Amino acid sequence: MSHRISLNNKAASTRLVVGGNRGIGIALVEAQLGRPGVSTVIATHRPTADTASLLELKRRHGKKLILQELDVTSDSSLKAFGSFLAQQPFGIDLAIHAAGLLHDDDIAPEKSLAHCKASHLMRLFEVNSIGPLMVAGALIPTQKRNHRFTFAALSAMVGSIGDNRLGGWYGYRASKTALNQFIRTMANECRLKHPRAAIVAIHPGTTDTDLSRPFQKNVDPEKLYSPMTTANRLLGVLEGVDESHSGQFLNWNGSTIPW
Ligand SMILES: NC(=O)c1ccc[n+]([C@@H]2O[C@H](COP(=O)([O-])OP(=O)(O)OC[C@H]3O[C@@H](n4cnc5c(N)ncnc54)[C@H](OP(=O)(O)O)[C@@H]3O)[C@@H](O)[C@H]2O)c1
Repeated sequence: MSHRISLNNKAASTRLVVGGNRGIGIALVEAQLGRPGVSTVIATHRPTADTASLLELKRRHGKKLILQELDVTSDSSLKAFGSFLAQQPFGIDLAIHAAGLLHDDDIAPEKSLAHCKASHLMRLFEVNSIGPLMVAGALIPTQKRNHRFTFAALSAMVGSIGDNRLGGWYGYRASKTALNQFIRTMANECRLKHPRAAIVAIHPGTTDTDLSRPFQKNVDPEKLYSPMTTANRLLGVLEGVDESHSGQFLNWNGSTIPW
């Protein structure tokens, strides 16, 4: 049976989540495993990641969940991922790039120009901008020309230039802005090569994950959403997206965000 079907006809839909081992990513994996029309969920995780939660989902859902290693900043890992996708007998109907970086042991969002360090800025661009572009570069050529699919990258409202009134967070902001430009550029290219594809950036809303945790004290608790709430809202929007939305920067409620 062909799995290449419209997302609106939800029988046997195949999904991919990049960065599916924690945060919003694993909520997207779990939410889709629970959707009756979804036949397969492919979840990627870094080789070094703690996969205990994913393995628990695998124990519960069996063959419906496929786990695949991927470090979006490693050429060899991206090559292996491309080969893995090319071997799949089905098309991907919805791919969500949920991997991203705001802070780690070395990197913290810059409060001012004086805090900007070239090596940190480069790492943020490597993970947040170039990573999703390379993932799309591995995925899109494996999809048949007339297959209807959506590639969505989790961006961030702070990547909007038009909405930037506060400043700060130079590297994260600009890496998401660059991601948005990559999305728009890929959407333009895909209009000819994959006319039924939708390539979008989407802001997930402020979500209670490791990424946002150090910055939650000024967030209204009513506007801090659980990963599962965010996942279901994102799926509600992304399952309704088609080629007419390609190239847009979407908010979690389906509205568009100024570039
Ligand atoms: N949470 C929010 O409020 C919020 C708001 C706006 C936008 N976003 C965006 O939403 C996305 C998900 O955020 P989150 O809150 O779920 O973050 P998170 O909990 O920190 O999870 C980040 C994910 O990215 C993965 N990752 C990092 N570097 C990677 C690499 N080189 N290769 C592959 N995977 C990598 C991590 O894998 P490891 O476990 O291996 O580190 C982890 O799975 C990000 O793009 C973020 O910018 C989040």
